[in-house]
Amino acid sequence: MSRLANRSILVVGASSGIGLAAAQAFAREGARVALAARRRERLEDAVKEIGERTLAVVCDACDIGACRRAVAKTAEAFDGISDLVYTAGIAKVTPLAEASADDFREIFDVNVLGPSNVTQAALPHLARARGRALYVSSIITDDHPPRRGMGMYSTTKAALNRLVECWQSEEPAVSFTRVSVGDTLATEFASDWDLKEIMPYVEEWNARGYLAGRYMTPEDVALHLVGLLEGPEGVPVSYITPRLPDPES
Ligand SMILES: NC(=O)c1ccc[n+]([C@@H]2O[C@H](COP(=O)([O-])OP(=O)(O)OC[C@H]3O[C@@H](n4cnc5c(N)ncnc54)[C@H](OP(=O)(O)O)[C@@H]3O)[C@@H](O)[C@H]2O)c1
Repeated sequence: MSRLANRSILVVGASSGIGLAAAQAFAREGARVALAARRRERLEDAVKEIGERTLAVVCDACDIGACRRAVAKTAEAFDGISDLVYTAGIAKVTPLAEASADDFREIFDVNVLGPSNVTQAALPHLARARGRALYVSSIITDDHPPRRGMGMYSTTKAALNRLVECWQSEEPAVSFTRVSVGDTLATEFASDWDLKEIMPYVEEWNARGYLAGRYMTPEDVALHLVGLLEGPEGVPVSYITPRLPDPES
């Protein structure tokens, strides 16, 4: 059965990882899907593989003009946009004392400004369709004390959480959901991290119990996103995390 028939979904961050798996899952469930990100070749390869009800849309979410063009192209091809799924996100492992303003700005732009840009551009379509907008956040915002070395990332994801609430408060015609995701492999999220440099932090996160020691796949997360698009509207927050290992086993 097609769980998402008649839906036209814009997925931002769809060139790899969770966003790509989400685009594949939505298409399998009968939706028309626009795959947006910056890497054109990746998007075009994915569209070839997934099939004809998909569209590749090159878009840097930090650029409002690019977001408007991506939305216009998608809406024209699909005769509207019913739902938005924002999965783009980046991080760097750097203590705040050493973080550069450029790095902080770049992470803020992708994790906070980007989702707001895309939402603003897509809003008339989403409101007309009384659609859903999902934003992939992280369980890192629940770490107490915060995970050392990830200050820029967890600050911007906490800002994203609030951003989603603010959009909901101002735009009741759309159903906004923050999706807090736990450890997921394999994606490209940490592909440019220097393993030797980050290992002391990873050991500390592990000792504090922040890492589950097991991982979900992007496909697991994608199935959860299908459920959120298909299920009841008005869900403000949803979590998907791996189960902690049983200490007895
Ligand atoms: N992996 C995990 O363990 C984990 C855990 C919790 C939360 N998350 C969250 O899950 C989301 C997806 O991450 P992932 O693990 O799937 O990582 P990923 O494979 O690195 O995917 C990130 C995606 O974001 C896109 N992107 C980056 N900057 C962009 C920009 N300026 N404009 C448009 N697209 C942009 C990338 O495409 P281009 O480079 O082609 O633009 C890519 O498609 C992120 O929000 C991350 O914070 C991940």
